[in-house]
Amino acid sequence: MTRHKNPLIEQRADPFILRHENGNYYFTASVPEYDRIELRCAKTIGGLREAAPAVVWRKRRSGEMSCLIWAPELHYVGGRWLIYFAAGHTMDVLDHRIYALCCDDPDPMSGTFAEAGRVETGMDTFALDATAFEREGSQYLVWAQQDPAIAGHSNLYIAKMKDPLTPAERPAMLSRPELPWECRGFAVNEGPAALMKNGRIFVSYSASAVDHNYCMGLLWNDLSADLSDPAAWKKAERPVFASSPENGWYGPGHNCFTKAEDGETDLLVYHARQYANIDGDPLYDPNRHACVKGFAWDESGFPVFGAPVSETLLP
Ligand code: AHR
Repeated sequence: MTRHKNPLIEQRADPFILRHENGNYYFTASVPEYDRIELRCAKTIGGLREAAPAVVWRKRRSGEMSCLIWAPELHYVGGRWLIYFAAGHTMDVLDHRIYALCCDDPDPMSGTFAEAGRVETGMDTFALDATAFEREGSQYLVWAQQDPAIAGHSNLYIAKMKDPLTPAERPAMLSRPELPWECRGFAVNEGPAALMKNGRIFVSYSASAVDHNYCMGLLWNDLSADLSDPAAWKKAERPVFASSPENGWYGPGHNCFTKAEDGETDLLVYHARQYANIDGDPLYDPNRHACVKGFAWDESGFPVFGAPVSETLLP
C-alpha cells in the first residue's frame, strides 16, 4: 500500500480518469479558465500529479462551443477516442449543450481530436455532464438536462445510443432534484457516473450548488433490468458523500470511478475544496481540487464512500 495525499491535482474540477487497456491512466477535468480540454497520461494514479498536460482542443472564438467548457470525459468506444463535454455559446451559465470530439489515432495525447458535433437529446435546453458506459454490448449515455416543466436546473436522463451523438430511443428521466439536500442553492442533479458490481448498476450524481452544499447521491438498478425504465431505478434518501468539516474538505462531488493499479481496488475520483466560505460565484472559485480515495462495499453489495480525506492508503 502507498500513502496517497489529496489533492491529486489542484484546481481541476469535475475530474475524470480513464484506466485504459493499454495500461495507461488518462486524466481530464474542467480547468479554471473553462477555455480548453487537456489530457494527462501516466502509468499510475500518482503519476498523474506531475504528468504534463496536453491541450487537445480549445474553445471556438464565437458561437457554439465558444464559452464555459465544462466537465470533459475521455471514453474509448468502438476503437475511437471520444471526449464528451458541455459548452455554451454565450457566458450565460445556463445555455450549455453537450458536444463530442473524436480521435482515430492510437495515442490520444498526440492524436488529433475533431469536432464530431452536438448530442441531440430531443430537448433544446441546458444540457451538460454526459457520461458513457457499455452494458451487454450496448452503449448508453447519462447526462444532466433542464426540463422547463420541472422545478430546478437539471435532471438526469439516460438513453441507449446508436452512435456517439444519437440516442437509439427516447431518453428516460432517471432522477430530478426533489430531496432537501439536492436543492440547496441550486436544485440540480448532475455529474453522473456509472459503476457496475454485484449484479447492479449504480449511477452516482451530484446535487445542490457547487459550494459547501454540493454532495453526491446514488441511484441503482438491477444490471439486467430495462435501464430506460425510470420505475426500475431506486434513489438513496440521503447523500452518500458530503462535506467533512472535521477532515477540512467541502463540497465533494462530480465524481467518476476507476480501479487502482492492482486492477481490483475501487477508487472514487472527485473534486472538493479545503474551505467552506467562498467569495462570489462558486463557479468562478478555482479551488475545486481533484482528489482520489478508495472505497469499500457493504454486506448488501452497496458502495460505502466514507468522507473526503486528505490522506489515504492506495494499493
Ligand atoms: O464545473 C463546471 C460545472 O459545474 C460542471 O459541468 C457541473 O457538474 C457543475 O455544476
